[in-house]
Amino acid sequence: MKINTLSVFPEIIKNNCKYGVLSKAVEKKLITINNYSFFTEADNNKGIDDEQYGHNPGMVISFEKTFKIFKKIKKNEPKTKFIFLSPKGHIFNNQMAKDLSNEKNITIVSGRYEGFDERILEEFCDFEISIGDYILTGGELATCILIDSISRMIKGVVGKKNSVINDSFMDSTIKGPVYTKPKIFKNKSVPKVLLSGNHKNIDNFNRNNSLEYTLNKREDLLENATLAPTERENLRKIKRSKLNNNVFIALVHHPIKNIKNETITTSLTNLDIQDIARSARTYGINKYYITHPILEQRKLAEKVLSFWDNEKKRKNENSKHVAMNNIIIKKSLKEAISNIKKEYKQKPILIGTDANEMKNMVDYSFIKHRIQEKKTPYLIVFGTGWGLSQEIIESCDYILKPVGGYDKYNHLSVRSAVAIILDKLFGCNF
Ligand SMILES: C[S@@+](CC[C@H](N)C(=O)[O-])C[C@H]1O[C@@H](n2cnc3c(N)ncnc32)[C@H](O)[C@@H]1O
Repeated sequence: MKINTLSVFPEIIKNNCKYGVLSKAVEKKLITINNYSFFTEADNNKGIDDEQYGHNPGMVISFEKTFKIFKKIKKNEPKTKFIFLSPKGHIFNNQMAKDLSNEKNITIVSGRYEGFDERILEEFCDFEISIGDYILTGGELATCILIDSISRMIKGVVGKKNSVINDSFMDSTIKGPVYTKPKIFKNKSVPKVLLSGNHKNIDNFNRNNSLEYTLNKREDLLENATLAPTERENLRKIKRSKLNNNVFIALVHHPIKNIKNETITTSLTNLDIQDIARSARTYGINKYYITHPILEQRKLAEKVLSFWDNEKKRKNENSKHVAMNNIIIKKSLKEAISNIKKEYKQKPILIGTDANEMKNMVDYSFIKHRIQEKKTPYLIVFGTGWGLSQEIIESCDYILKPVGGYDKYNHLSVRSAVAIILDKLFGCNF
């Protein structure tokens, strides 16, 4: 494979290729590296930057001063694929390294200053790649990273093929722990199975550890991992055992807004009782509070619950009964809060929900992490009618951003909103 680079400081890249596996790959001619310098290629060595149009500060890599350089490289390397390094590009990963290692000729271009005049990219860029969500002063270090990880994927560059195949990220998992001598250090011994010589047991041990490490350190990767059904079930079991069981939800019927923003009491809906109970059970919610100030409405809710509460239904672990069992009917949100307080000896943190944009709303990842970190109880409050009244919204510690699509129309039923919100907060991605 031929790797060309184009940068302001080619020495940084040249030096990086002088060591270890990379230098050997060059020696063995598995890769050829050819470094172009913007400065030596530029007319009269006059530099390559220009002032930016508009009032933004910072210089830009000039279209006029570099167009010829790109044309020249294209002439020298007619089949080359230009990779522009830029924080605006796709985030680089192992799969991209693997894909790029199949190319015969690539040219990695490092920016400096405020990057390139957009028209240079439009003319020459095949791939725009970022190495992460941070800003470097220039693309040379990023170029070194690309050269290193792409080269490792080329046959013969890394001595043992299995080292690359078993690497982290190859199948969307990370590797488990590895050990060497001594066998025992401070009473901590190397796991026995690794010393057993039994290859099958060692492979199983490594696979299970790799999956558990991925779950603990990079759960996001599991979405794309190939998992056997038993592996998936096992990971879910581990995850379940770590959850704090500290989340409650409440469906409020008073005080609620109507379309004219007046405070009203809404009536109970049978579907909300059943469907929300099923969502709550599916996502591991501790208790589902239904609050209603009118006695007859609470009695009605009790009647619906009693319908599901009989011997026959109780025997089936997937029956609605299992979900309905987690419902508690209370007069008001205040009563629901005191009920949780009694159990936890502390007031739950209230998380409000609303279909409208409001100031200081929080996002789902923020709440998700808070809930996982702290054993404090959390109560997610859902409204009926046209939403929770101002007084409830003001009593909440956080308000979640609305869920929905890109359309202006956003009229989800509360039971749909509950299901979506619970999935965003507690849904399993593998
Ligand atoms: C100072 S940066 C320009 C950043 C630009 N002001 C912005 O906010 O997008 C200069 C050059 O460094 C390189 N660079 C900086 N951060 C990078 C990253 N995360 N990944 C890849 N290249 C990066 C690019 O080649 C970029 O053109």
